[in-house]
Amino acid sequence: MNIIISDDYQQMSSMAAQVFIQCVTANPRAVLGLATGSTPIGVYQNLITSYQSGEISFESVTSFNLDEYIGLHRDHPQSYYYFMHQQLLNHVNIQGQRVFIPSGTEEDYGAYCQWYEDQIAEAGGIDLQILGIGSDGHIAFNEPGTALGSRTHITELDHQTIDDNARFFDSKADVPRRAITMGVATILEAKEIILLATGQNKAQAVRDAIEGPLSSECTASALQQHPNVTFYLDSAAAELLKHEYKH
Ligand code: GLP
Repeated sequence: MNIIISDDYQQMSSMAAQVFIQCVTANPRAVLGLATGSTPIGVYQNLITSYQSGEISFESVTSFNLDEYIGLHRDHPQSYYYFMHQQLLNHVNIQGQRVFIPSGTEEDYGAYCQWYEDQIAEAGGIDLQILGIGSDGHIAFNEPGTALGSRTHITELDHQTIDDNARFFDSKADVPRRAITMGVATILEAKEIILLATGQNKAQAVRDAIEGPLSSECTASALQQHPNVTFYLDSAAAELLKHEYKH
């Protein structure tokens, strides 16, 4: 695993955005794995700037999002569909038919989860996946206790995740209790993965992910098995790491 510790959020976002820019420049038909949460917003802003300046085009790019709340319609301001369109997709020339975001309003999730997996496979797999990390060490919505071999599935959100995400809703009671998420094994099939984390409240999760045992209690620890992963951290998120990493 590569660990890159940045001075601040802007530097981290710009370095991580460069990985996307290089990926799309090298392969205009790249398949990108996208994430929600506040952490990747700076990367998306850099990508919009890069698109607006003519440096990159999303014309032939395909994207797959990691997860979505169950029960939120795509027009709900807290749905991940809405978030992705506000933060990135509405501002670049990606083609709607090549945008895949799990639906939170399906009737038959057994069939739907398989369909989502099949779409990723048909697109040739994900070339570059961006991840955030939950304060409990989750990636996407793979909460503690999720099998490291899991595929796209429905999950119950942990109390800690509900507490963390309550800030985006009017009240904690409004936070959905369930989500659809790519599984840990689905994520690990991406050819390259970058994980971004900032702030002290991510420091323990970051340490467990990088230096802890491989464990379903911290699903981000599964990234230790992947051959091409880079963690982009600020110094607060890196402060519990025992080993020295490059700044
Ligand atoms: C949610 C998302 C994760 C994200 C996490 C952290 O739980 N499902 O994909 O990594 O939030 O979000 P933030 O970046 O806002 O801390």
